[in-house]
Amino acid sequence: MIFNTLDYINEMIIELDGSKIKRANKIAKLHGFKENIEIISVFTFNEIDEFISCLINKKDYFIETTVYFFHGSSKFCKITFLKDDSTIVIEDKTEKELIKQVKSDFITSLSHELRTPLSVAKGNLFLIEDLSRESNLKAPIRKAKKAISRIERILDQLTMLSMAEFGNYMIKVELFEPEKIFRDVIMDLENKIKEKNIEVIFNSKLEFMQGDPFIIYTILRNLVSNAIKYSHKNSRVYVKISKSEIVVEDYGIGIREQEKNRIFERFFRGTDAKKYAQGSGLGLAIVKYLCELANYKIEFDSKWMVGTKFIIKMD
Ligand SMILES: Nc1ncnc2c1ncn2[C@@H]1O[C@H](COP(=O)(O)OP(=O)(O)OP(=O)(O)O)[C@@H](O)[C@H]1O
Ligand SMILES: [Mg+2]
Repeated sequence: MIFNTLDYINEMIIELDGSKIKRANKIAKLHGFKENIEIISVFTFNEIDEFISCLINKKDYFIETTVYFFHGSSKFCKITFLKDDSTIVIEDKTEKELIKQVKSDFITSLSHELRTPLSVAKGNLFLIEDLSRESNLKAPIRKAKKAISRIERILDQLTMLSMAEFGNYMIKVELFEPEKIFRDVIMDLENKIKEKNIEVIFNSKLEFMQGDPFIIYTILRNLVSNAIKYSHKNSRVYVKISKSEIVVEDYGIGIREQEKNRIFERFFRGTDAKKYAQGSGLGLAIVKYLCELANYKIEFDSKWMVGTKFIIKMD
């Protein structure tokens, strides 16, 4: 009777008889917990030995971990074993965990990106207040303006991302100078470029090109940012823009074979990338979304510890 009621709750409830399953509610059955089979034939997790020892010795047990269900899925779960009832309760916390991680990654990287230009802007504005002679004002005003426009660009990226979420960005078609966009990108990444002493080599014969300058700027900024972030010190990054392609090439850490199919996922960051530079794992997700929007194709070629080349095909 009571197990019928338990069919209506979200947690998996499994009653045991020794190490075999005696009864399971509906959601547990969906995950493979069928009657009369051994509990360990349904799932596993890193700490399974501890769990089994608690089952045998009849001790209460509790853990939050990633669980692999043998029928094919994996989830972040809270597992509780209640010795008095010989019952296991499994709560799927995947979504909650993801939101927690997303929020903290997002806020950390956002505040990190905003803090530096903001403090530069503030500092220079205070200077302006203190200086009375006009000739002294020029440089700090210029610096303040530059820092503020950088904040604006970061905010643009954020706007882009939220639009990506709701899918309502209207593409513009304009004539613009690719070199000017390249210079904006370089200005934006100036600190990192200097810090790592990277030479960014630009190659384009195009005086003008047609498209959405904001989309091209955002794609280029993210690809060049990655090329710089994942390059070794004192190396070179090549940027080539033609009518049909944008190519960004580096000789940095490269992408591991097994991570190649994940780099466009939101919030995915490579094992080496995490050790090498800060980031939120959003850059390529934005690039991919913009390419879909503008009908561009994105391709890449990368060798681990050798280098990476991204190509945007525009026709
Ligand atoms: N040029 C590159 N060289 C080596 N690895 C790269 C390169 N570009 C992307 N990657 C890999 O792809 C992952 C995802 O890239 P993405 O730009 O989406 O995120 P991020 O650079 O880690 O963070 P963010 O761009 O949000 O600051 C990186 O963490 C890294 O593992
Ligand atoms: Mg990036």
